[in-house]
Amino acid sequence: MKFKTKIAIASDHAGFGLKNRILRYLAEKKVEAVDFGTDGRDSVDYPDYAIEVAESVSKGKIDRGILICGTGIGMSITANKFSGVRAALCHNTATAEASRRHNDANILVLGERVLDEETAVQIVGIWLETDFEAGRHQRRLDKIRAIEKDQQAAGRSSEGC
Ligand code: RB5
Repeated sequence: MKFKTKIAIASDHAGFGLKNRILRYLAEKKVEAVDFGTDGRDSVDYPDYAIEVAESVSKGKIDRGILICGTGIGMSITANKFSGVRAALCHNTATAEASRRHNDANILVLGERVLDEETAVQIVGIWLETDFEAGRHQRRLDKIRAIEKDQQAAGRSSEGC
């Protein structure tokens, strides 16, 4: 695998089994992973785990991340609150590929309860291997970045109201 960057990974209890499967796959492919938990099936809250990965990516400490919960929805909602994070919930290899080519997704989100393991592993493989196409897609990402900056400025100017 040509992918050389470290991956931050986390799940809640509902994504724990699939996280282990993906960690094994990354190890086989010699992709370095930093596991932010959870470490079992005891019920936890997905935002607590999404934060770890999303913050690492948002602050530029790690380039790419993978988040897993039951459906992937809670992890996506949480991760996309972070500046600079483009988290993509993918259900098949086509959406995984497009999320890289068109959206430069820097976090892949998966749902253990809605995916079979083999499909999930294929999604991870494609997602890691596919490059961003830039061009017209970069213009669109720049618009998302501008929205983030406006939101941050609006937040600052309403402080103390
Ligand atoms: C946990 O039961 C479940 O709600 C969570 O894993 C996720 O699917 C939320 O979006």
